[in-house]
Amino acid sequence: MTATLEAPAGSEKTEVGAVPSFEVTIKLRRYNPESEHGEDAYWEEYTVLAHGTDRVLDALHKIKWEHDGSLTFRRSCAHGICGSDAMRINGRNRLACKTLLKDVNPDKPITVEPIKGLPVIKDLVVDMEPFFASYREIMPFLITSGNEPSKERLQSAEQRERFDDTTKCILCAACTSSCPVFWTDGQYFGPAAIVNAHRFIFDSRDDGATQRLEILNDKEGVWRCRTTFNCTEACPRGIEITKAIQEVKRAMITRAF
Ligand code: SF4
Ligand code: F3S
Ligand code: FES
Repeated sequence: MTATLEAPAGSEKTEVGAVPSFEVTIKLRRYNPESEHGEDAYWEEYTVLAHGTDRVLDALHKIKWEHDGSLTFRRSCAHGICGSDAMRINGRNRLACKTLLKDVNPDKPITVEPIKGLPVIKDLVVDMEPFFASYREIMPFLITSGNEPSKERLQSAEQRERFDDTTKCILCAACTSSCPVFWTDGQYFGPAAIVNAHRFIFDSRDDGATQRLEILNDKEGVWRCRTTFNCTEACPRGIEITKAIQEVKRAMITRAF
């Protein structure tokens, strides 16, 4: 069957049941501590042939496989599940595997940079350790007191619903690395750690809320949030992060601990 599909403006339509193809230029922030450029990061442009449903991740693969095998970036699932390919695309944090080229104005060079606020190791790869250190600090696991129950810990649908939103986190760091407070000194716990604390604080089976609230009552904890909403806008899982942070703040005020 012959079909004509819409290609992005300025590109050619192709027929014969084929997906339209178009050229796209990716402007990449490169950094290699061992290169001739020394310690300085620099921009490099690559033009590749893309198809209508290609994502930024597909373009990065093409660059790596057809132009420069030394290009370094993380990715695993390619389907928005593992959280490993958060990067700054046209100035906004997104997952490369969930971002269609046609949705980020492929008529102009698309800028791709590492997420901000974490040390760059090479090209688009940052050191995630400071991010995971904050995550570990809020104790992201069920804490219970008393004897082990003889049967499963029951929970009503309403109790489960209370923290449903924050269970969706895939630890991509798009939120924390888009937060201007985190950019200032990297000391703030960051929205991702608070989201994951929220997931347990409001879980009716958990007994560790007081400990977590004490941890987040720190000078680098929830009170540093200035409700900027960058985190909420960046989250590829659509989590209402700023709202979750406000709920943790409120719990701190209303709960005696
Ligand atoms: Fe990523 Fe959203 Fe989790 Fe932040 S809250 S780490 S943006 S999935
Ligand atoms: Fe930062 Fe999000 Fe608060 S961007 S300031 S954590 S609302
Ligand atoms: Fe797994 Fe994008 S590669 S979320």
